[in-house]
Amino acid sequence: MENTRVCVIGCGYIGLPTAAVFADKGCDVLAVDINERIVDSINRGEAFFNEPGLSELIEQAVKCGRLKASTAPEPADVFIIAVPTPFKDDALKSCDLSSVLKAIESVLPCLRPGNAVIIESTMAPRSTEDYVVPLIAEAGFVIGSDVFLAHCPERVLPTNIISELVNNDRIIGGYTPACADKAAAFYRIVSKGAIFTTEAKTAEMAKCIENVFRDLNIALANELVIICDELSINCLDVISLANRHPRVNIHAPGPGVGGHCLAIDPYFVSSKAPDKANIIRLARATNESMPGFVTAKAKKLLLEQGLSISHAKVAVLGVAYKGNVDDCRESPALDVISSLQKSGSVVAVFDPRVSEYAVPLESVMQDACIAIVLTDHDEFKEDALQPYVGMMQHPLVFDTRNVVGQLDGAQVVNFGNLFSVAPAELEQAKR
Ligand SMILES: NC(=O)c1ccc[n+]([C@@H]2O[C@H](COP(=O)([O-])OP(=O)(O)OC[C@H]3O[C@@H](n4cnc5c(N)ncnc54)[C@H](O)[C@@H]3O)[C@@H](O)[C@H]2O)c1
Repeated sequence: MENTRVCVIGCGYIGLPTAAVFADKGCDVLAVDINERIVDSINRGEAFFNEPGLSELIEQAVKCGRLKASTAPEPADVFIIAVPTPFKDDALKSCDLSSVLKAIESVLPCLRPGNAVIIESTMAPRSTEDYVVPLIAEAGFVIGSDVFLAHCPERVLPTNIISELVNNDRIIGGYTPACADKAAAFYRIVSKGAIFTTEAKTAEMAKCIENVFRDLNIALANELVIICDELSINCLDVISLANRHPRVNIHAPGPGVGGHCLAIDPYFVSSKAPDKANIIRLARATNESMPGFVTAKAKKLLLEQGLSISHAKVAVLGVAYKGNVDDCRESPALDVISSLQKSGSVVAVFDPRVSEYAVPLESVMQDACIAIVLTDHDEFKEDALQPYVGMMQHPLVFDTRNVVGQLDGAQVVNFGNLFSVAPAELEQAKR
């Protein structure tokens, strides 16, 4: 399979590492994106976002001619579609397939008998069958004998993408068994994980339900935060003790759920069966309520110091939706920032991983009445914030990720001790 010609449509967080990994294994890869800035950066041998190991792979692949980029597809053996699938602006937030369908349309003139079309974009169940198949069939191809169509969802973890692309198990959902076999053979070029073939609609639902499971689990942890707050119980202790049960694994609570998967994919399932998908919608609502909970608690913490949120300077630490990444898509931090601003607070934002917010931390912490940690970046862990405590007007740190350790001279509040902060303790911390 060396020298397989691969055309990757959509070169973002998924498409670009995929293109780089196949090029690294000897394929001739054309990376296609409608964004010229991305195309230019790839052709310069650069990655346009931070992901460990990615820059090196791209630099090498471009240098040896295995990877090039363009704004238009060219004939290839395999076409991989990795374009965005947001939700629509409708009441059910259903899956917006417009980019996928445009990407398929763009490869149709390049398709030749024997080619494979593989969709990695996450899609609502039945999308391949109901929307993609008709488009390819209308162009005159018999799927399963002329061209081979499969949905192969991606499940990599940002910060560990290169390793997981190679080592994760893969689900290959073929429109026909022959389509699945063709796609499976292609992934074996790079994959060391187990490969499971199935129907396209089963693969679509399996991918979505993986993220539903995680969203639900986090919603359970977040609901526990709210219940334990009311009952004055340390919910972080509860979770860690419950997780000592060999078959219990409650996820970490936080200020909400962001990113391109967990905050979106559950709607792809619920919008397909709105009358049946009760718990899925409830979990989404719970997680979407968390930025409001965090803002309300910050307001209460400030009130306990005799300060009004409408005048206080609030230092927001972390905007990315998860630790050690620069991705702010759907981040709950954005909602916290906007509701703090609506409350009239002077909001100073710092995120060392996001260029827009990579300002000097001193300027953010200076005279702040409260610092709210919203992302579990390494830069906030343990005693990393210690040098900045003395600059604050009130040394109060609200850690929604449970990553900050003890800080001398500061009161650190997290979801475990939220209910128990008394002004007296704060006064003591100041001394
Ligand atoms: N990011 C993740 O961690 C992750 C994990 C698993 C699955 N996914 C899924 O993978 C898919 C891609 O996600 P992503 O995070 O890489 O998105 P992204 O927004 O980072 O990248 C998508 C790229 O596609 C390009 N594009 C859009 N329409 C195009 C077209 N018609 N032709 C060529 N290029 C086009 C965009 O310019 C963009 O650069 C989505 O369906 C997502 O749900 C993402």
